[in-house]
Formats: sequence, C-alpha cells, structure tokens
Amino acid sequence: MMAPMLAVRALERRVGDVEILRRIDLDVMPGEAIGVIGPSGSGKSSLLRCIAGLDPISGGTVLVEGRVARPGDGAIGMVFQQFNLWPHLTARENVALALRLVRKMPAAAAQAKAEAALARVGLAALAGRKPAALSGGQQQRVAIARTLAMEPRVLLFDEPTAALDPELTTEVLDVIRDLAQAGTTMLVVSHEMGFIARLSTRVVFLDHGVVVQAAPPAELFGTQAEPRVRGFLQTYLDRVAWARDA
Ligand SMILES: Nc1ncnc2c1ncn2[C@@H]1O[C@H](COP(=O)(O)OP(=O)(O)OP(=O)(O)O)[C@@H](O)[C@H]1O
Ligand SMILES: [Mg+2]
Repeated sequence: MMAPMLAVRALERRVGDVEILRRIDLDVMPGEAIGVIGPSGSGKSSLLRCIAGLDPISGGTVLVEGRVARPGDGAIGMVFQQFNLWPHLTARENVALALRLVRKMPAAAAQAKAEAALARVGLAALAGRKPAALSGGQQQRVAIARTLAMEPRVLLFDEPTAALDPELTTEVLDVIRDLAQAGTTMLVVSHEMGFIARLSTRVVFLDHGVVVQAAPPAELFGTQAEPRVRGFLQTYLDRVAWARDA
C-alpha cells in the first residue's frame, strides 16, 4: 500500500465563533491532481492556506510524506490568483530571489535554477524581461516558475487564472496540465470546470467548510453527483448557457 504524499486529518479552522473548515480529511497520493470546487465562501482558499501553513489551524494535522509540514521547509508551494512579482526585477531575478534569500543559494546557482524553472513554463526566451513587459499569462507563468524552483513536494493553485483575461487563461492551464502529466502532486482550486474535469484524478466539492463529495470527475460531474454538487453545477451550466446564447 503506497503512503499518501499529503495527509490532511480532521483539519479544522475557526475564527471566533465562525467555523471555516470542519474536520476535513483528505489523503492525496503521489502524482494525484485534486480539483477543489465549491461555492464562494465554502472554504476553498482556507483549505489551501491551512495546508500551506499560511492560516493557523484550530485542530487536526497536515502531513507531507508522513511529517508535519512547517512553513518555510519548502514541502508545499502555493500559486495565487495575484502574481505578486517584483516590478523592478526581471523574470529570472524574481524566480532567483527566493532561492537566494530562503535557500541561501549563491547567485550564479540561483540564476541557473531560475532559468531551468522558467524553461519548464515555456519562458526561457523571456527570462530577461521585467513584469511590465510580460502579459498577465506570462506573469502568472513566472510566478509558477518561482514556486517550482523551490522544488515543493506538493503544489497548490488557488484560482490561478481568475485574474486573467479569458484568452490568456489557456497558456496557464496548459502549464498546470503539463505539470500534472509529469507526475506533480497538486491541489487546484478553479472555476474552469472543463479544465478541472479533464485534469483531476479526484474532485473535492466543498460547501460551508465540509467535504460534501470527493470522487473521480466522471462520478462527481456525472449521474453520481450528490444533490448539492448537482445544484452547484447546474448554476454553473446555466451561466455558461446564458453566455453561449447571449
Ligand atoms: N480571517 C478570517 N476571519 C474570519 N472569517 C474568514 C477569514 N478568512 C476567511 N473567512 C471566511 O471563511 C469562509 C471561507 O472563505 P474562503 O476564502 O476560504 O472561501 P472560498 O471558497 O475560497 O471563496 P471564493 O470562491 O470566494 O474565493 C468565508 O465565509 C470567509 O468569509
Ligand atoms: Mg477563494
């Protein structure tokens, strides 16, 4: 029996009286891509932030390869909706900075590793550009390269294309799909349902801080969907239909 890469056990997050996450259990096997969907405010970002150690948890454990993950140990990497690149630094320097500051890498080694990471997201030729000279999609790919360069065991994406114009989302989704196909263990929060359905080994549907259903996409997007999941997806389909007919 293979051990999970990521084990979330009875994870809880409360702020005051508000229960944001309620006893979340989730085992993620090496190489799995978990899609996380659910209504606004259901706790998707909170789940990722708690796994990454960015939000304090009120109970439970997060284990990476059987060990408690600690912020800064590099076990988990996260990509956000906002790219947060330094405007005065080139793509290469943006990626190299964390390696130098956090990993204490010498400048030349950090630059070489940054270039390798940029090549993985298809930006080898643009390594010398500053963010202002890059499209939103390219900037997000730099942010993904910055996370990849730290060689995390688990990658978390929180709505990585939500800040992008629709025509720029594809290049970012393609990079995420390539990483998944290369065997990267990942959790992806996205409202791009077609992408989630094709990418995911399993999809988790959150509502009010509870996992309502966790199942392969064929089940969760098919006839075996729980009623609450079905209702959510119907709302989504109605919106798409409206956009198509408009
Ligand atoms: N620091 C906080 N203090 C109090 N409540 C919070 C805090 N952070 C999040 N919440 C609440 O927790 C709930 C879950 O928020 P979260 O951002 O995780 O939802 P989400 O599923 O990512 O939503 P969206 O799809 O809009 O991004 C929301 O009701 C939110 O208002
Ligand atoms: Mg969110």
